[in-house]
Amino acid sequence: MEIRRVGVVGLGTMGAGIAQVSVQAGFETVGREVSNELGERGKATIDRYLSRGVEKGRLTREAKDTAIGRLTLTTELADLADCDLVIEAVLEELPLKREVFAELDRVTRPEAILATNTSALSVAEIAEATERPERVVGMRHALLQPGSCPAPGRDRARAQELGRRRARRLRLGRRCGQAAGQLQ
Ligand SMILES: NC(=O)c1ccc[n+]([C@@H]2O[C@H](COP(=O)([O-])OP(=O)(O)OC[C@H]3O[C@@H](n4cnc5c(N)ncnc54)[C@H](O)[C@@H]3O)[C@@H](O)[C@H]2O)c1
Repeated sequence: MEIRRVGVVGLGTMGAGIAQVSVQAGFETVGREVSNELGERGKATIDRYLSRGVEKGRLTREAKDTAIGRLTLTTELADLADCDLVIEAVLEELPLKREVFAELDRVTRPEAILATNTSALSVAEIAEATERPERVVGMRHALLQPGSCPAPGRDRARAQELGRRRARRLRLGRRCGQAAGQLQ
């Protein structure tokens, strides 16, 4: 299965970073938040991250505009129906994540891959809320944005490597038809 369209549920600290990587990697991306205001706030964060890349000469203004153009916002989980991969980044609360996954299970195609960005919760317990536990994965994302680390020397190199790995995981998912990431 080729991954063309990515959904991101929750555009807070992590979700905005995940959505940024997704649009920059070339995926049509649908971001879901609980209100239009929070969606717009998430989009502004993504725009800021991308603008920082332009300022530092890491991407052109045109590439930034193209990337942000791949993002659409919604407050309805049903608008993620066409996504091949959905990455959840809502609050770290098991009942909430299970509720989100149960609804994602209902609205997305059976072959779609559902990923959680949980830090510490059991992926198995989240997957149990769906009828497709074999297509639920844990996908851990580092907080650092690709190419946006201000630290010099080794830290900067490490941050860039983390960013490259994260982009590679998304590309790998597209190529192999699997959600690559950290299985927990
Ligand atoms: N911040 C980190 O350092 C970090 C690192 C790794 C993993 N994580 C994990 O990532 C997840 C998100 O963390 P965060 O720091 O981005 O949280 P956050 O509080 O910054 O963002 C969570 C967002 O989810 C939104 N939300 C809540 N319920 C929702 C729903 N039903 N549908 C859509 N959006 C909803 C909230 O409005 C909020 O904007 C958590 O599971 C956390 O443990 C966080």
